[in-house]
Amino acid sequence: MAVREVLKMGDPLLLQVAEPVAEFGTPQLDALLKDMFDTMDDYDGAGLAAPQIGVSKRVVIFGLKENPRYPDAEQVPITVLINPKITVNSMQMESGWEGCLSVPGMRGMVDRYSHISYRGFDAVGNPIEREVGGFHARVVQHECDHLDGILYPSRIKDMRYFGFEDVLFPELSVPKE
Ligand code: NI
Repeated sequence: MAVREVLKMGDPLLLQVAEPVAEFGTPQLDALLKDMFDTMDDYDGAGLAAPQIGVSKRVVIFGLKENPRYPDAEQVPITVLINPKITVNSMQMESGWEGCLSVPGMRGMVDRYSHISYRGFDAVGNPIEREVGGFHARVVQHECDHLDGILYPSRIKDMRYFGFEDVLFPELSVPKE
């Protein structure tokens, strides 16, 4: 178990398409997931994708309960999602502020689909299938983008809505990043 360094935007590994996981329930996968949770908790993140700690595999974790980085966000169950597939259930989109541990100190306004379904597998290979909306849908789309080498700044449509967290939201006490 260890808190790992989070790669920052500019690192070529964050631009790679990650490889699917072929075997579940292995000690290697367990160790990766432990490190990902330790790292996400240490950074107060709402989600983390394996490529962000330098492992180019299709593994994401997310979830939050009263996360100080997202004081207004609804709760999202703590989830391990491996080899995810997203289906868009409606073309309706929603604008919202996003941050990313790989883009520390910044926030940007990004459009995401409001209603999606996602499926994939947990750590031991049990299937997961959920239909979600709102912030839950946003987090999943953000994390799954990482697996295709996409960081949220490339999805910002109007660059006037991209800036430093402490300037945009001076009222928030911003935890370390
Ligand atoms: Ni991110």
